[in-house]
Amino acid sequence: MYTEKRAWWKEAVVYQIYPRSFADSNGDGIGDLNGITAHLDYLKTLGVDVIWCSPVYASPNDDNGYDISDYRAIMREFGTMEDFDRMLEGIHARGMKLVMDLVANHTSDEHQWFVESRKSRDNPYRDFYIWRDGRDGGAPNNWGWCFSGSAWEYDEATGQYYMHLFSKKQPDLNWANPKVRDEIFDMMTWWCEKGIDGFRMDVIGMIGKESFEDGAVAPGALYGDGGPFYQHTETTHRYLREMRQRVLDKYDLITIGEAGGGTADAIRYSNVEGTELNMTFGFEHTDGINDGNEMGKWSDHGSPLAEVREVMNRWELDLQGRAWNTVYMSNHDQPRQVSRFGNDSPLWREKSAKMLGTLLHMMRGTPFVYQGEELGMTNIYVKSIEQYKDVEVFNAWRQWVESGRVDAQDMLRWYAKIARDNARTPMQWSAAPNAGFTTGTPWIDVNPNYLSVNAEAELADPDSVFHYYRKLIALRHAHDVIVYGDFVPLLEDDPSVYAYRRTLDCQELTVLCNWTDRTAPCALSGDALGEELISNYPSHRAGFLYPYEARVLLKRA
Ligand code: GLC
Ligand code: CA
Repeated sequence: MYTEKRAWWKEAVVYQIYPRSFADSNGDGIGDLNGITAHLDYLKTLGVDVIWCSPVYASPNDDNGYDISDYRAIMREFGTMEDFDRMLEGIHARGMKLVMDLVANHTSDEHQWFVESRKSRDNPYRDFYIWRDGRDGGAPNNWGWCFSGSAWEYDEATGQYYMHLFSKKQPDLNWANPKVRDEIFDMMTWWCEKGIDGFRMDVIGMIGKESFEDGAVAPGALYGDGGPFYQHTETTHRYLREMRQRVLDKYDLITIGEAGGGTADAIRYSNVEGTELNMTFGFEHTDGINDGNEMGKWSDHGSPLAEVREVMNRWELDLQGRAWNTVYMSNHDQPRQVSRFGNDSPLWREKSAKMLGTLLHMMRGTPFVYQGEELGMTNIYVKSIEQYKDVEVFNAWRQWVESGRVDAQDMLRWYAKIARDNARTPMQWSAAPNAGFTTGTPWIDVNPNYLSVNAEAELADPDSVFHYYRKLIALRHAHDVIVYGDFVPLLEDDPSVYAYRRTLDCQELTVLCNWTDRTAPCALSGDALGEELISNYPSHRAGFLYPYEARVLLKRA
């Protein structure tokens, strides 16, 4: 048995808000801070402990706020600093906490530092970013970037290239420059002094660039993979330890790294000694499963139980006793989980949404709920390229479709399954026009299923996905075994059932989930497993699990 140290952030459930799409208070079609403040009671009813807001800082919105032009100002469209202070106060008044998104691998090209940096080779801010001479009339090396294309952009003013691992409007900061680290740590301290409760650190595993050699080129790929030279490097770990000493240790924060990598990386980032972060997000069960070919995540590959279970169980087991884990299937970069891992047909949407919620919330690690997940919101299944808003979609379109490498219909099919905009359609508050998200024209189309899938209807229905999530969250707060129990996989080769056990002292919590739309035999489905804590079916059939049935049973010796 592993003895888990108690911590509030292990007992918490985090709710992620994508502010642009959450609630619009002034009719301009864009979600904003006052919209969030107006819905805090809804979140309190759900019972979440922590709210993580995707970036709310000043930004020209090339990547919806993940391109920051001023870390100490609020995005004009989202409101003012007074609105922010009111929101924070409202969150604290309800006993909840606020996590800010820290996007410090890169800034916007409109950040004052970059505006200076690109002016001349001897500008005092030149070394805030990564500038290099070209090679043989082209980019300094063969690296590609995450949204397709070369990781380098030529800048005429000074005749050099700057590095951007994301869009060309997101130049990478040069963390090797101590002045950059001073600025970032000062900025973090400034927010901590304002009273925020933690940081979710955007692509934090990429800050420690160690060298700039060509990367290996996979068969069929257009660019080299520089990952080994900038992902999860010793240098990154050193910067995080410095950040812990200079900022994080001074406050009682929750720190979540968007890091990716394998379990060995996660174990270092979120080690039990607490020298770096509290927890990280892995991508192996999301992007990793799709990543079958040279086109990265764009593929027809689905999410078969065997593959998902292999990855998630391995993360649970590898991290146990060594590091804290996160559990999630949705965020603003992933499609809707019920569409991807469950079944979003009218017949099975609710059952499968509840089944997935059960699977996640009973695991070892802090659960993250992405806005609308608690309603069982689905992908929107956009038909044409014109309806998309995401820079990633347009860049991939240019690289693969416009260049004639990939058929437009194939790409549109992959987008409908995995594109990030699926998660960015407006929150569905009610059956009012635009789902009650805005009185104006929403910045991105509302999913037409809002007439039946919406918060107002679900709040009124005790059997809804919303009330099921509320119960899942309350269970976590009531039972230590859900937070601190050991994870033990069960039925690891079962073709239909995902099952595991959590154990703490004399308690045994058994979690049974049917991943399929067929009734499945299950040797473990008996009442001998203890008292039922929650299920998405009112009654059961001995020896079987109904389609998408989920059941949690607690036995106390
Ligand atoms: C992270 C964010 C994503 C953003 C990227 C660049 O992956 O979650 O939305 O596009 O970083 O900042
Ligand atoms: Ca607005």
